[in-house]
Amino acid sequence: MKLAIPKESADGEFRVAASPETVKKLTQAGISVVVQANAGISSDISDEQFLSAGAELAADFQTAVSQADLILKIQPPSSEEIKLLPKGCCLVCLMNARTDPATLKAVAKAEITCFAMELLPRISRAQNMDVLSSQSNLAGYKAVIDAVNAYKRAVPMMMTAAGMISPAQVLVLGAGVAGLQAIATAKRLGAVVTAFDVRPAVKEQVESLGAKFLEIEQIEQTETTGGYAKELDEQSKKNQEKALAAVLPKMDMVITTALIPGKKAPVLITQDMLKSMKEGSVVFDLAAEQGGNCYGTSYGKTKTLYGVTILGQSNAASRLSASASPLFAKNLYNFIVPLIDKESVQLKINFDDEIYKMSCVAKDGKVLLKENADV
Ligand code: NAI
Repeated sequence: MKLAIPKESADGEFRVAASPETVKKLTQAGISVVVQANAGISSDISDEQFLSAGAELAADFQTAVSQADLILKIQPPSSEEIKLLPKGCCLVCLMNARTDPATLKAVAKAEITCFAMELLPRISRAQNMDVLSSQSNLAGYKAVIDAVNAYKRAVPMMMTAAGMISPAQVLVLGAGVAGLQAIATAKRLGAVVTAFDVRPAVKEQVESLGAKFLEIEQIEQTETTGGYAKELDEQSKKNQEKALAAVLPKMDMVITTALIPGKKAPVLITQDMLKSMKEGSVVFDLAAEQGGNCYGTSYGKTKTLYGVTILGQSNAASRLSASASPLFAKNLYNFIVPLIDKESVQLKINFDDEIYKMSCVAKDGKVLLKENADV
């Protein structure tokens, strides 16, 4: 069985879908692993490290994937790459399956069996395979670091002979995986942290990290069976708007992470709220790719509006590639091990298993996206 690890070709993508550790485990299991030359270079993993772990090197994408049974990637393949994938192979990567139907269709048409890692069910058995969690955690950390870099003041309280510096006030909106890490990071830096989320379970988690939970009256409590948020009703939205309008003028940095699966991100910071914020304050909008939680966010860009710096940088985890790649690689390793029959060292996929059933988006030339799945 041949497993291929191509070099990522998408702009701003510095991660790689394997680490020396996962390659070693795979080759020890009798799998032939081929890594494209320089695939790990942006994650500080050299070709020599992959070679020492038992991999072979391939000079380019085409040679790497030629005759591969299984291909592991971070990002969806480009249209050029899809043309080079061997018919009948199995591809595991992030597919953006709900937002990029064209790529998914092209993969299905090429008769590839494709698993979209973003559609993994959020069940405990799948926790060690969950790339959204491992990468969001790093994104939450990086968002705080980037916001602090853009903030022209010190974060912790400092008492000096020349006077006192007050601690920075940080607000985190959306306290899922990224938000909770943002809270923990801001606390470690000495900020005073307040956070809010619409899911009821979150209050206790926020408080256990030493942050204050922003109480909002009459918020309809919404959570899907999958543990995600649902969109708020109109009255709850108004209540949230009122509470945020009151608290934002006091904030120095805001990290927004609020997402509703399959929908545009809710706008939580309106134009009027931005106008009310302090000169020099900073918003890092981690929801930028889904439209943004803040008025005026530009995806991939830094902007200053009404004296507030708004960071909309893309792919925060990729900018920590040397930390992100080994975690992503381990998630993929945990995902593929049950797909491989130990005796024959061949793919043997159990499509009745919830994990593989929910994440399989293309098979036998057809798109299999489960449109109405309760995420
Ligand atoms: P996410 O990235 O989809 O959303 C981020 C956060 O935004 C969520 O906490 C959501 O409640 C919040 N949000 C949505 N609308 C909002 C609004 N109007 N105002 C404020 N906040 C708003 O969520 P993420 O981080 O992927 O986690 C979702 C859930 O899944 C969590 O309960 C997490 O613990 C759970 N989970 C379970 C896993 C497993 O069991 N395998 C793995 C990872 C996460």
